[in-house]
Amino acid sequence: MMTTLKFRNNDEMPILGLGTFRSEPNEVYNAVLSAIKIGYRHIDCAAAYGNEKEVGNAIAEAIKQGLVTRNDLWVTSKLWNASHGEENVIPALNQTLEDLQLDYLDLYLIHWPVALKTGTEMPEKVSDFIPLSEVPLTNTWKGMEAALEQGLAKHIGVSNFNENQLKEILATAVHQPEMNQVEMHPFLQQEALQSFCVQNDIRLTAYAPLGSLVDENSKLRLLENDTIKNIAKARHMSPAQVALAYTIQRGIAVIPKSINEARLLQNLETLNHTLTEEDMALLKDLDKAHRFIDGKFWEVENGPYTADSIWNA
Ligand code: A2P
Repeated sequence: MMTTLKFRNNDEMPILGLGTFRSEPNEVYNAVLSAIKIGYRHIDCAAAYGNEKEVGNAIAEAIKQGLVTRNDLWVTSKLWNASHGEENVIPALNQTLEDLQLDYLDLYLIHWPVALKTGTEMPEKVSDFIPLSEVPLTNTWKGMEAALEQGLAKHIGVSNFNENQLKEILATAVHQPEMNQVEMHPFLQQEALQSFCVQNDIRLTAYAPLGSLVDENSKLRLLENDTIKNIAKARHMSPAQVALAYTIQRGIAVIPKSINEARLLQNLETLNHTLTEEDMALLKDLDKAHRFIDGKFWEVENGPYTADSIWNA
């Protein structure tokens, strides 16, 4: 099974990384340190996750213990929505670098095509938002390009962007986005977006690759799906490994989150398995275009963003 995604300059990103969203600060230190110990070399972070200082402490400790060098690791982070606008990107990135105790990121992404007023964590009212007509994505992209040119990020990209938003950036970019990180798993396969990205030399990373347990009331449970369970049994894999392997074999990076040592190892060991073409065909049929992260949290009455405008407009 392929183990890295290659970038334009031949840099290679490990195809399986550790997600840190919803890992509490007190849990994430141990998760990152254990992950590095057992062989993870790719850590996916974001300012918005509120835990970059602890992630940074764990990376520093791993380097101090001689487990890895900075160069061995691939670290991604993301620009929060309250820092859109060309002039805000480098200050936000510098804060992330300080928190992570790093002097560069391997990859920096615009977290969402949604702009919020400075200082807003999550929006509650219309006045918390800035419409994209006031801070166009192309303007924020110029700040991302400056970060690249200054060597603060080796690669730049976006997250949660749809095809039209990518086209808008591609039309004027000096440095094209190399990555789009979006929700993807067997219930949300996003084939049209994938082919657009492949045509434009944009790599994909799947977040919530295990179908995320964010919505505890959801009746749809990816890892309890019968097709996934049957393939898992036949191949001596766990359901999580089947879900991850499916996405990896589509050429897409995955960043499963775990704070549990056994599950960290189990997820990494996906790389020792390969699904057959028959398995792949059965899993392809599971697509339901179902989003666990539905984007409705960007909707307020009379606000400038709707989930539909984010995913489809
Ligand atoms: P935990 O951190 O306790 O392991 P996603 O990355 O799709 O958002 O999913 C993350 C969720 O899935 C977390 O709740 C995580 O819990 C759980 N999880 C991670 N790895 C596995 C696994 N191998 N099997 C089952 N659940 C897992």
